[in-house]
Amino acid sequence: MQNSWQVHNPEGSHHIIVTRPLLGDRWLKILTNAHCRVDVCTSKEPVSTQELFDAMNRRCEGAMGQLTELWDKELLTRFKAAGGMVYSNVAVGYNNVDVAAATSLGILVGNTPGVLTDATAELTLALTLAVSRHIAEADAYVREGKFKSWQSTLFLGDNLRRKTIGIIGAGRIGSTFARMMIEGHRMNLIYHNPHRNKQLEGVVGAFNDFLRKVGEVPVQCRYANTIDELLQESDIVSLHPPLNESTHHLIDSRRLNLMKRNAILINVSRGPVIDERALVEHCLKYPDFRAGLDVFEHEPKLAAGLKELTNVVLLPHIGSATHWTREAMSTIAACNVAAIVSGYPVWKGKDMLVFLNDDAPHAAPSIVNAAELGF
Ligand code: DGY
Repeated sequence: MQNSWQVHNPEGSHHIIVTRPLLGDRWLKILTNAHCRVDVCTSKEPVSTQELFDAMNRRCEGAMGQLTELWDKELLTRFKAAGGMVYSNVAVGYNNVDVAAATSLGILVGNTPGVLTDATAELTLALTLAVSRHIAEADAYVREGKFKSWQSTLFLGDNLRRKTIGIIGAGRIGSTFARMMIEGHRMNLIYHNPHRNKQLEGVVGAFNDFLRKVGEVPVQCRYANTIDELLQESDIVSLHPPLNESTHHLIDSRRLNLMKRNAILINVSRGPVIDERALVEHCLKYPDFRAGLDVFEHEPKLAAGLKELTNVVLLPHIGSATHWTREAMSTIAACNVAAIVSGYPVWKGKDMLVFLNDDAPHAAPSIVNAAELGF
């Protein structure tokens, strides 16, 4: 069935499509102030590829889309033929977009970093606590009327304090979550990243000065040269890498077997970073091993056996799902599209929050292939 499209500012001189309704109205004001006609798909369900193809039969210079859509070479070629100049994901991750194809077609690709850092790190924390303290299982237990009396051994979990947190991918979200675990729970940190994160190490150093001053034992912070050593040493491992060829099935059966038998594995990045079938087998074999997943390998489908496991907590990809963040993501994506169709440059600064101000810079906040296309 065809979805309907709602047209805003029909007289606008640049034609933009938005593939799903978005939160708030700021994003729409940005586009209409930039003289855009905006066609919004009104369905809450993912728009089909066919429908995106059909949309490209009309003129279309800019598009704002979602991670549920595959912006592959074929679609991008049709977009280019329709006048496409800029596509922005309303997401920080952009593994659903063939950036190489977009670049070869001269299409700029935007994303929305910087405004979902706190929300996603907070969700990572919530998931970690839910897993370590059996929150989902305990909630179900009460609702099912099984709570008859207090018991000293009911749903025993583990303390986080002074344990070791392993972070794979210490970018914005990974390092914010690391700080929550260090500053809040005095956890020791071991992290792996393509390059050392000096800023994170500096923050831990300053925090240790504070701990010494108040008579507490400092925490340890170590860069792991290999993922394998990180997995062997960590009590909790949290995954924050982007999904690409090198991170597909980064956690496979061999690596799961390197982890402590009672470790916790958290994934809020992208599902295919874990070999989900191998994870199911591992969780069945080692009931003390636990996992918290906000993302799935074949989202929204789950690997066979996953939902039957009681040592796993499952969430429907809600890492960035706060009111403020989702509105801010739409704003940044709209700024990407509005700036490029208006002929503005790409922002060279790092602070995305300036784009949420009324006097936002006349620039595209985040274009991932800007350098390749000479912007
Ligand atoms: C992202 O932005 O990449 C998240 O996964 C969805 O909010």
